Amino acid sequence: MRVLVTGGTGVLGRVLVQQLDGLSEVRVLSRRAPQGAGFVRGDLETGEGLADAVDGVDVIAHCASAADYWRPRRDVAQTRRLVGALGDARPHLVYVSIVGVDQASFGFLRAKLEAERVVEESGLPWTVLRATEFHDLLLMYLMRLAKGLVAVVLRGSLLQPVDVGEVAARMATLVLGPPGGRVRELGGPRVESMEDLMRAYLAAARQRRRVVTIPVPGRLGAGFGIGDHLLTDDDRGTVTFDEYLRSRVDADGLISHPYTP
Ligand SMILES: NC(=O)c1ccc[n+]([C@@H]2O[C@H](COP(=O)([O-])OP(=O)(O)OC[C@H]3O[C@@H](n4cnc5c(N)ncnc54)[C@H](OP(=O)(O)O)[C@@H]3O)[C@@H](O)[C@H]2O)c1
Repeated sequence: MRVLVTGGTGVLGRVLVQQLDGLSEVRVLSRRAPQGAGFVRGDLETGEGLADAVDGVDVIAHCASAADYWRPRRDVAQTRRLVGALGDARPHLVYVSIVGVDQASFGFLRAKLEAERVVEESGLPWTVLRATEFHDLLLMYLMRLAKGLVAVVLRGSLLQPVDVGEVAARMATLVLGPPGGRVRELGGPRVESMEDLMRAYLAAARQRRRVVTIPVPGRLGAGFGIGDHLLTDDDRGTVTFDEYLRSRVDADGLISHPYTP
């Protein structure tokens, strides 16, 4: 089976590529210079290289995202461009989305829902997996929010972070299996307040900072409080944020996340 992983250099995509290694012939689409066999240079924003990237593949795991919160619809256009590059070919398209996109309180999630629709209405065999926020992404935000004199979190916000290895494992199963349409959502084992998650980070990083909660007004704040971004299916991973944090502490006691600045 020939599989194209878009976003195969990203946080999720990298792990997925490792997990598919040996089980399928993997090709990675990236804007960067090829980093080995199987890398195809291409850009979903311009369409450059896409025809070569999709040529002859049986499955596409679409993990690329512009992650552009100011212009969120770039992901919609890029997904459309990917589908457009296929011509008459009909590979199985597996897309990873975000839990709660249909309750979307801000533009990035609304665009993600729109990108799901592009996949569903593509005429291709398709599968969409929605996952909650990855531990890695949460850590990145907590580190940013703890940079000042005090650590700031959203009051009343509930989160259910999931381990990216477990999302990649589910993606790999979906890639190797038949098209499943909208499959069960995947999230982490625990629902925790952002305040508790921040305290866990500060303890792991051995930082003594006061945690200050700020209210988030309107629909966005209400959404986080009432759990718009928590699992609706009860399909939970096993790795907790605490366990993940321990795995990110290096020999010097420093913590890092895998996202590039
Ligand atoms: N992070 C989360 O908490 C979370 C939760 C649920 C779902 N998701 C979804 O999971 C997917 C992966 O997220 P992630 O956090 O792993 O992403 P990420 O680490 O930010 O990686 C983004 C990837 O997209 C690729 N990319 C960006 N623009 C591109 C373009 N114009 N053409 C081709 N490739 C492009 C990048 O490749 P190059 O830079 O090499 O070109 C990179 O590999 C996304 O769809 C995201 O919405 C994420």
